[in-house]
Amino acid sequence: MRDEHVIRPLAKLAATSEVQGETERRAGVYTPVHGASSTASTKQFAVLVEFCKRSIQGVGLGLRSLHYQSIHQTLPAIPWFEALTDNYLGPKAIPLAQLCSIRQQYPITLHGVGLSLGSCDALDQHYLRQLKQLIADTEPAWISEHLSWCSIGQHRVPDLLPLPYTDEVVKHVADRIQQVQDFLGQRILIENVSSYIQFEQSDMAEWEFINAILKQADCLLLLDVNNLYVNAINHHWDPLDYLYRLDPLRIKELHLGGYSLKGALLFDTHSQPVHEPVWDLYRQAIAFLGQVPTLIEWDQDIPALERLVQEAKKAEQICATNRTAVNSRLSRHYADA
Ligand SMILES: [Fe+2]
Repeated sequence: MRDEHVIRPLAKLAATSEVQGETERRAGVYTPVHGASSTASTKQFAVLVEFCKRSIQGVGLGLRSLHYQSIHQTLPAIPWFEALTDNYLGPKAIPLAQLCSIRQQYPITLHGVGLSLGSCDALDQHYLRQLKQLIADTEPAWISEHLSWCSIGQHRVPDLLPLPYTDEVVKHVADRIQQVQDFLGQRILIENVSSYIQFEQSDMAEWEFINAILKQADCLLLLDVNNLYVNAINHHWDPLDYLYRLDPLRIKELHLGGYSLKGALLFDTHSQPVHEPVWDLYRQAIAFLGQVPTLIEWDQDIPALERLVQEAKKAEQICATNRTAVNSRLSRHYADA
């Protein structure tokens, strides 16, 4: 039975017999796609959804709900937004209508924290089904998750915990990523996380661990440049050596954010502008990788949208100055491959 208050992407509407032959798009015919997972708020949304292109390029911003109004009012010249997957799942979800209203104007990516890819628990099938539906509803350019774990048994922690770097863990995590990709029917990006401890059991470098998972799972990398820098400082690694040893062909997105100094450690608090050493590393990353879609993350003490746009423009300028540069390191990598 038709529910006239639930949104559905136009692409899907056109593919269903329920709307074939419809000549007035704004007539607003809506078909439930969430079933029991739809919230009351979502069902109040009654605008036909037509999405813009899916692919991303340039420097985007993390989508935060306090900016929804500013985005709608000003339509900032930002090429794409990254939405936090978990904000749109579960009983406390932000109404999907809000995300779709942004999606009508901008390409998006979905970035998750809840899959717990490194956990020893079975993958959460309910979460995966919800994620698959969200993908179908919003048509993101990429789906990404963290190379970490955050749950064991019934216990969950609001953090992204690091893993020991061993062959056994590589196989474990790669198998789980493959399960996720098989279920979703597409490759995902995994993001390197920040860490403040190292495991005695680790017998390989972090970059080696990441490359091995990328290869075994045949997945892609969201390289958080700030996290790379934070870990390099916390664990006394060479950040450039780490960067140049990653498989550049699998890096499809970059993250930039601000860290905080607490005692002798850096924490990726995302509460400040990007720091100068991270900008420097970003310049090296762009020189190494060429143009890679980049995202500005700011999750605490979030400023006005205009301030985030300024930060994105700074990243755009760095990309522009490298646009014509000869990418000698990457060329050498291809030659050696
Ligand atoms: Fe990140």
